Amino acid sequence: MSVKKLGVLISGGGTNLQAIIDSIKMGEINGQVVVIISDNNKAYGLERGKKEGIRTEFIDYKALSPAEYNKRILEILHEESVDLVVLAGYLKVLGKEIIEDYKNRIINIHPSLIPSFCGKGFYGEKVHKAVLEKGVKLTGVTVHFVDEGTDTGEILLQEAVEVLENDTVDSLQQRVLKVEHRLLIKAIKMLCE
Ligand code: GRF
Repeated sequence: MSVKKLGVLISGGGTNLQAIIDSIKMGEINGQVVVIISDNNKAYGLERGKKEGIRTEFIDYKALSPAEYNKRILEILHEESVDLVVLAGYLKVLGKEIIEDYKNRIINIHPSLIPSFCGKGFYGEKVHKAVLEKGVKLTGVTVHFVDEGTDTGEILLQEAVEVLENDTVDSLQQRVLKVEHRLLIKAIKMLCE
């Protein structure tokens, strides 16, 4: 079976991206990261890609109209014949044209059990802060397909993570992040088979 081409979109540190890169190196995924795209020139995830000799692209959404910004993303995905788009800590909403062109071929990882603690404004530490403030005993991770909404696409995988009495935002985020890495790899593996 042909190796699936992955396009990974990031905005930050890229630990999920690193998990994908490492898993591919260990031969666990029938895929290859062919391009890494970020809206943030300082995203450490770009460095992670450069170290591996993977094509990295910063697209300055501040310098472009939303239409031009999304058109540029789509151009790059087509140039690399990307089969599956992975949003790994990507904080911008994707344009309709990309979602339509890549229908059911874009996945996102979210650090909660959707439909809880998701949607506009729920990203990164804000999710875990809300979880602790609400006092829920279980949170978790969701991998879902991306549609026009925010965190609203069909759910692919979920795994629960216990919230501990003395959890801080940081301790909870670290424990959830470990599950994210594992669940994202599992989802990509499934979709590349
Ligand atoms: C994390 O909060 C993760 O839950 C979400 O994006 C944030 C950054 O992840 N997916 P990463 O370390 O940049 O992969």
